[in-house]
Amino acid sequence: MTQAVAARALPEILQWPAEGITRVPMQVFSDPEIYAWEQDLIFRGPTWSFLCLEIEIPDAGDYITTRIGDSPIIAVRRADGGINALVNRCVHKGSIICYQAKGKRTRTHNFVCPYHNWIYDFDGNLTSIAFEKGIQQKGGMPADFDKTQHKLTRLRVETINGLVFGTFSDATPPLKDYLGPVMVEHIERTLHGKPKILGRYSQFMHNNWKLYVENSRDNYHPSLLHAFFSTFKLNRLSAEGGTRQDDKSWHHITFTKRYTDKGDEAYDSGMIRAQKNDYGLKDPSLIDQWMEFPDQITNSIQSIFPGFVLQQVLNSLGTRQVITHGPGKCELVWTLIGLEDDTAEQTQVRVKQSNLVGPAGLVSMEDGAIGGFVQKGIAGDLDKRAIIEMGGIGVGGMPTRATETSVRGFWKVYRELLNV
Ligand code: FES
Ligand SMILES: [Fe+2]
Repeated sequence: MTQAVAARALPEILQWPAEGITRVPMQVFSDPEIYAWEQDLIFRGPTWSFLCLEIEIPDAGDYITTRIGDSPIIAVRRADGGINALVNRCVHKGSIICYQAKGKRTRTHNFVCPYHNWIYDFDGNLTSIAFEKGIQQKGGMPADFDKTQHKLTRLRVETINGLVFGTFSDATPPLKDYLGPVMVEHIERTLHGKPKILGRYSQFMHNNWKLYVENSRDNYHPSLLHAFFSTFKLNRLSAEGGTRQDDKSWHHITFTKRYTDKGDEAYDSGMIRAQKNDYGLKDPSLIDQWMEFPDQITNSIQSIFPGFVLQQVLNSLGTRQVITHGPGKCELVWTLIGLEDDTAEQTQVRVKQSNLVGPAGLVSMEDGAIGGFVQKGIAGDLDKRAIIEMGGIGVGGMPTRATETSVRGFWKVYRELLNV
């Protein structure tokens, strides 16, 4: 245990239903002690969490601040081109050291805590203490105080196709092993060029973090919850699609090929083929797309445990990062990306289609609300359980999206890590 402040051990708090991963006890979405254990066993446990894109900190001294679970993190580009991730907590009295969202430090000793000005280098070494020797031979730190014994916590960092991940744990496998070949291949496929940032925003959701992560793995809901998808035939369960997972079902991809009932030409045209009496868009160019990927997939949502999503919605590419804020609230950070080799027209298509996603997105806005609906719905019934049986009771990829196999995959790894 590294930091959990839960008063009780997990088995005293949480007994998983005998049915296994087809039932989820509602208490996991609101119990503060379970939340504290999750911080230890998941976010500071043997998992990789997304930190940023490499291009957000391209040059030496560039830094960005983020979080893994409740832990504030600084990711900084070193002079040798590598990236360090440091816990953004001063060893003196615990203040956040770096409070800017991002920036650049040009000197070597450059993370200065605002409270009493203790200073750290990019490796997290404590290099300076204000008034260490006192003033006029009075005060100061004891002569035997050893600065080298007090460093910022430094995480392991690895990157893949411009995505930067960090982990607290020495037990976490190397990133590519953690992801597995199916996930690695899909990341390489989606980020098939050097990314560039098109936009960034975040939203707070009034629900437990796991309700959003479940949602991102829930193949079953998009054509039902998101009226835009089905009305304009971007995503229907009758369209070709399915779900893929890694060998252990920790991670997940749900994918669709754009709805068509008349062959492949609809993919290329990007036209809305509204049926009689159906709705049409006044400006159909909103969903005009070019067939970007040889696999003909037009929608893919890839979830990496615990809280990272790589998105392709038509030609809108982006990352989503789930950040916990207590048992009943979480934040979703979106970064919309294009690729350096995109033409101006392609960039415009990506920007235009970004209207589909994000907090007010024509598709994604419901995802930002539905977790809050669940949180409200369960508040008085925390002894009840959710039913996760669509598509059977197991895990593993399936050639359909009428399944909750990936949601069960999430609860499988959750139970493994919490040992419940
Ligand atoms: S809390 Fe950082 S220097 Fe005192
Ligand atoms: Fe959704």
